[in-house]
Amino acid sequence: MLDSPTMEYGNFRRHRRLRGTPAMRGLVRETELTPAHLVYPLFVEAGLSGRTPIISMPGQDRLGLDALTDEARSIAALGIPAVLLFGLPASKDSVGSGAYARDGIVQKAVRRLKDANPGLLVIGDVCLCEYTSHGHCGPLAADGSVDNDAALPLLAETAVSLAEAGCDIIAPSDMMDGRVRTLRVALDSAGHQQTPILSYAAKFASAFYGPFRDAADSAPQFGDRHGYQMDPANARMARDEVLTDIAEGADMVMVKPALPYLDVIRQVRDAVDVPVAAYNVSGEYSMLMAAVANGWLDEGRAVAETLTSIRRAGADIIITYHAKQWAARQ
Ligand code: PBG
Repeated sequence: MLDSPTMEYGNFRRHRRLRGTPAMRGLVRETELTPAHLVYPLFVEAGLSGRTPIISMPGQDRLGLDALTDEARSIAALGIPAVLLFGLPASKDSVGSGAYARDGIVQKAVRRLKDANPGLLVIGDVCLCEYTSHGHCGPLAADGSVDNDAALPLLAETAVSLAEAGCDIIAPSDMMDGRVRTLRVALDSAGHQQTPILSYAAKFASAFYGPFRDAADSAPQFGDRHGYQMDPANARMARDEVLTDIAEGADMVMVKPALPYLDVIRQVRDAVDVPVAAYNVSGEYSMLMAAVANGWLDEGRAVAETLTSIRRAGADIIITYHAKQWAARQ
């Protein structure tokens, strides 16, 4: 029997009892969203002074080195603990040497950010696609495919150069096999045993990276990334990728994109005990912001609901372009 005064009208539960006031709703809220879980991506462009808008991502800018000091301070003032860095180099070549140049654009940016605010965590994205003339994530083999084993030492050199510049976390996003192990060994032998690796473990070959490729000028010049990024249809395989990366030494793992893969986030969360990150990618950002620009969605509510859904799915950490605007509203 239900203990309810309306029992005589039928056996139903009064779920609305716990929804009557903001205090009551807050008391029983299961999922918390605070700026402490958020990572804000930054695009840094060589040769640029100030900032220039990214047309495909309304509200986001490419930054020059000189804009980073103010940016670091405003991000930290909002309570956002970390940034993820992407670079646009002055020139590109077939082996992506700009990625591991000691005075490369991201290496310089890390030093600026750490000078401006040593407490702000700087995450270095390790990949070659922004630095290769062909736009793929590693050097090419004779048959035009991406040469996995030739990419590994270049990725390792990139990781070490970023750690040397002051990166707090190294985040490989290239999807080459064996990269986590290679990076761990390289970081350790260069004296960076304390630098954690956040691997883009389950990274899908997604249409939702489109605006990013404009922002970072990293679209492949031929072909696509289906030979190294994951098939969107595969969730069991995502779990397998994650377990491999943890066995190779990943301290944290990522699922990317987030919204079309909430089920994968949940399955990964249930399969492992390391922190799980989710990347709310450029296409997810831009489609929401396009609807906002048309007056079809309320930005504040739509963003809060989106980020909450990613946390509810099991993500500890959310990488999102909404971070600053969302945090500023709290
Ligand atoms: C580099 C990289 C990409 C993104 C993050 N790191 C692009 C890609 O794989 O093509 C996408 C991020 C986004 O869309 O916001 N490999």
